[in-house]
Amino acid sequence: MNKNVTGTQSIWMGAGVESTSPPLDRSLETDVCIVGAGIAGLSTAYSLSCEGKSVVVLDDGPVAGGMTERTTAHLSNAIDEGYVTIERLHGEQGARLVADSHTAAINRIETIIAAERLACDFERVDGFLFPAPGQQLERLEEERLAALRAGLTDVVRVERPSGPVLEPGGCLRFPNQAQFHPLKFMAGLAQAIARCGGRIFTNIHAETVKDGKQVTIETRQGHIIRAQSLVVATNTPINDMFVVHTKQASYTTYVIGAGVPKDSVPTALYWDQADPYHYARIQKDASTDGHEVLIVGGEDHKTGQADDGDERCQRLERWARKRFPMMEQIKYRWSGQVMEPMDGLALIGRNPGDASNVYVATGDSGMGMTHGMIAGMLITDLIQGRTNGWAELYDPSRKSLKSIGTFVQENVNVAAQYADWISSGDIESEDHIPKDTGAVLRNGAQKMAVYRDEDGQLHRRSAVCPHLKCIVAWDSMEHTWNCPCHGSRFDAYGKVINGPANSDLSQI
Ligand SMILES: Cc1cc2nc3c(=O)[nH]c(=O)nc-3n(C[C@H](O)[C@H](O)[C@H](O)COP(=O)(O)OP(=O)(O)OC[C@H]3O[C@@H](n4cnc5c(N)ncnc54)[C@H](O)[C@@H]3O)c2cc1C
Ligand code: FES
Repeated sequence: MNKNVTGTQSIWMGAGVESTSPPLDRSLETDVCIVGAGIAGLSTAYSLSCEGKSVVVLDDGPVAGGMTERTTAHLSNAIDEGYVTIERLHGEQGARLVADSHTAAINRIETIIAAERLACDFERVDGFLFPAPGQQLERLEEERLAALRAGLTDVVRVERPSGPVLEPGGCLRFPNQAQFHPLKFMAGLAQAIARCGGRIFTNIHAETVKDGKQVTIETRQGHIIRAQSLVVATNTPINDMFVVHTKQASYTTYVIGAGVPKDSVPTALYWDQADPYHYARIQKDASTDGHEVLIVGGEDHKTGQADDGDERCQRLERWARKRFPMMEQIKYRWSGQVMEPMDGLALIGRNPGDASNVYVATGDSGMGMTHGMIAGMLITDLIQGRTNGWAELYDPSRKSLKSIGTFVQENVNVAAQYADWISSGDIESEDHIPKDTGAVLRNGAQKMAVYRDEDGQLHRRSAVCPHLKCIVAWDSMEHTWNCPCHGSRFDAYGKVINGPANSDLSQI
């Protein structure tokens, strides 16, 4: 999601990432083309270009202008779903590989930072996992034992933490987690890729991709990239209509950032086991005169199925003030989207249904920083023809019968969204749309997405999502049109900013 086109700014956005290549003005041939310059795309580009492959990265915004600039950047091997669930879905050996791969991802980030001398506020910190309110405390102990079986032998139960207490009843301490400034990291990574000969072209939209022995990518600007391999790292794939999108669901998550006095909250990662869960961390912020920023997130809901971002941020604030009484004024508020896979693990590898030289990285949940780094290591091995022990675990073609309940539930939810075709609009007349606001209106058999800009001028688009034709909904906090089915997002004027749709809302 591009900062220029949405309603909020994350704490990281001040540190913009400069483009490292001149504008793309001709067609090109390359070993590997990567679409998407978020953490998944650039970590893959870094590994491959440093191993001598010729690499071209295309992004239709700036570097890291998607979800990577909206993250909270916890770097953790305490998997979101919890090791109890991961072990149930993927077995004890699978859980070991999960712990191993996320630990390796944090180590890889640290190694790159040291090798490339990146100043990006990287710090090793502890992570503290608290129970959900009212939850039986045995669940925490079960989680500790499952983490232990997964190989995280240094996870311990702490009865009285020295820092904040999110919920009473003790917590688990996960040592050796980390945090960093994601945009400073991405800026350094982009420069390292350029030094290794990789080329990153920004503001270039990949319009169509055709698989085959040689993959062909046509850009909106009319240039053709021919490549031996293609990596689609667009957060949610733009080259797949169905298969992958039935295996993951898009959720919007909210974040607030408030000043706190320096050193009043120990620098650590904090989460609870609520559903949806809360997450918190501390960030040193140059603009805060010795103060720090407490970043708190949560209040997730299915994308496009609620428009109450302000209330959700207020609930986050109330939750946080109770647990962090030193909190001062709110300085930041933003939201973003995570792709929740049905079985808790990202989908990384060969794209089902395409030739074997087309790869995707998606389904990264709230662990997209480490999942993105895993994508960089795993896809590099696949392209280089090396065996990788994580390949089967993350294979996008995998079938998990044990997660069939979630699969059915999420896909029934998608099917229910088509009822929007026959419902009335949000309002009766466009005269009732205030300035800088959008609404869906019925126009005979059609539905229109109408935005009234700050000057009062109306912009009308079809409300039908170009992906699989659900009806989009207005997001008052981000000023975007969001699709309730698979999470496509469009700016106020209908320009696509998040897949799986790859074209704009059509003109009326
Ligand atoms: C609020 C929030 C908090 C989070 N907190 C954490 C956390 O604490 N820890 C963690 O590990 N993860 C977290 N995540 C998840 C993590 O931030 C994301 O999963 C990760 O950044 C996704 O990276 P990506 O490279 O897959 O996608 P993106 O960063 O979204 O990059 C995809 C890129 O593809 C480009 N693109 C799309 N379509 C096209 C096209 N057709 N042509 C050209 N370019 C295209 C986009 O412009 C974009 O730049 C959080 C996410 C959110 C929203
Ligand atoms: S994202 Fe699939 S129908 Fe809109």
